[in-house]
Amino acid sequence: MRLVIMGPPGAGKGTQAAMIAEEFSIPHVSTGDIFRKNLKEGTPLGLKAKEYMNKGLLVPDETVVAIVKDRLSDEDCKNGFLLDGFPRTVAQAEALDGVLTDMDMQIDYVLSIDVPKEVLVERAVGRRVCTSCGVTYHVKYNSPSREGLCDACGSELIQREDDREETVARRIEVYLKQTKPLIAYYSEKGLLISIDGGQGIKEVGVQIVKALEK
Ligand code: AP5
Ligand code: MG
Ligand code: ZN
Repeated sequence: MRLVIMGPPGAGKGTQAAMIAEEFSIPHVSTGDIFRKNLKEGTPLGLKAKEYMNKGLLVPDETVVAIVKDRLSDEDCKNGFLLDGFPRTVAQAEALDGVLTDMDMQIDYVLSIDVPKEVLVERAVGRRVCTSCGVTYHVKYNSPSREGLCDACGSELIQREDDREETVARRIEVYLKQTKPLIAYYSEKGLLISIDGGQGIKEVGVQIVKALEK
């Protein structure tokens, strides 16, 4: 299965993507995670991405497309993948169509998670991520069993630098202007599945699995 999961910042893409990847045994490819990994390792790509990420802006299309193209050519993507946070502009979606056509592949479904704006800010600001393994928590909705420590590996949890309230607001604006048009783009292609992301983590997961199993 070849999937895209889209939705505004804090909608729950990463949370649901981890579940879907496991359920359907496909790799979870998150461009945001790739940038954060590079930043942690101090690579030139990470340093370049940081300039944009910390301001809540999108990394330029050429940079992101090159990374995804490269990642999709890996062996583990042969039997499917789940793209999280990519594409994010119409130009990226068109580039993805081209890359997949060249590989004789196509997207099966695009899951679009819908969440009211007020909820998004609360979710993003309360998010905590593991500094070591990257698992995501929420101070209120998905708290770890020991405060500030990862259940999976015991490492320290931190707040993402772009999860400060002002930056979250900017990211939501960027989503509405640059990414939301993709809903019409994929709807016209008959690929779109809209998911009500306003419910709890488990309920949203059940909706997704049901929609994909149809
Ligand atoms: P990216 O990392 O993709 O961030 P994002 O799209 O802003 O989305 P988030 O990761 O913030 O939210 P999410 O939907 O994954 O929510 P999560 O599951 O964590 O991108 C970061 C930056 O990288 C971009 O701003 C840009 O600069 C750059 N970038 C990345 N891709 C790019 C591209 N293609 N082009 C250009 N630039 C790019 O959940 C959020 C919180 O809510 C968590 O705490 C979670 O526990 C909680 N939660 C989740 N679901 C629920 C629920 N149902 N109920 C209650 N709480 C919930
Ligand atoms: Mg995410
Ligand atoms: Zn961890």
